Amino acid sequence: MLSYLHAFHAGNFADVQKHAALTLVLSMMQAKPSAIACFDTHAGSAIYDLKSERARKTAEADAGVQKLWAHRDSLHSEDWQSVIQVLSQFNAGEGQLTVYPGSPAWIRQSMRPDDSLTAFELHPAESGQLAGWAAEQKVRVMHEDGLKGLLKQLPPKQPRLMALIDPSYEIKSEYLDVAQALLKAWQKCRHGVYLVWYPVLTSGLQTTLKQAVKDSLLRKVWCSEVHLNAAPERGMTGSGMLVINPPWGFDDRFAAMIEDMATEQAVGLSHEHGWLIPE
Ligand SMILES: C[S@@+](CC[C@H](N)C(=O)[O-])C[C@H]1O[C@@H](n2cnc3c(N)ncnc32)[C@H](O)[C@@H]1O
Repeated sequence: MLSYLHAFHAGNFADVQKHAALTLVLSMMQAKPSAIACFDTHAGSAIYDLKSERARKTAEADAGVQKLWAHRDSLHSEDWQSVIQVLSQFNAGEGQLTVYPGSPAWIRQSMRPDDSLTAFELHPAESGQLAGWAAEQKVRVMHEDGLKGLLKQLPPKQPRLMALIDPSYEIKSEYLDVAQALLKAWQKCRHGVYLVWYPVLTSGLQTTLKQAVKDSLLRKVWCSEVHLNAAPERGMTGSGMLVINPPWGFDDRFAAMIEDMATEQAVGLSHEHGWLIPE
């Protein structure tokens, strides 16, 4: 059952939080010259047209990246500059944002010559589009289950690892599957930096993931949750990220970025952050 299509959601507030964290983590990891093996376990199709029928049907980007883009000259944190730069590269020559990059495209934009990216995508059509995009990039696409695929690839050849785990959570068991796969991955590569995205739902299903992580052997797990001011009565009211082994200083810098999203002109949300599990 693969019915989720990210094109309906690309560029929403959750994508902004996730891709901002991804960009900051990579740039902080790149302060050291050693190569990074990057993995994207649930990659989607890489490039999204914000004018497409799917994007316009939900108009989620209007309340996410479009608000941030319109507000880009008044963002206080300098760390937004690399995010704005990537968005500008994908929308060259246009004042308005019409193209939104997905996670593999964000990672690809940050990669240095010795870094690598392996992207997993199980949906046949999404995987086909991803492979089409990747053919002109230095990206390996695997049409297989992302959690199992990641575990098969660890430890990587390169000295360092960054893995983004961003499932669609269409199946309730995915919350527990993610926690279990994360622990196994960490046991194979303890120094890796892992980013896990999850939805904040009125049903509270995300607590299964957070509790399983808390009950595990994992250490150094940082958590960022944003909650929409104008949240719907049911469904997704916010978005969460777990960052395992965040680079030193990431927490303050990322919190400053999210502060910029908090104002009504930018996105309009509140932020909770801190260690889920300390060092
Ligand atoms: C939330 S979307 C990914 C969005 C993307 N990471 C981004 O930030 O642009 C989740 C993706 O996971 C894919 N997917 C679902 N189950 C999967 C699995 N078991 N392994 C790999 N991909 C899967 C879906 O088809 C969907 O494209």
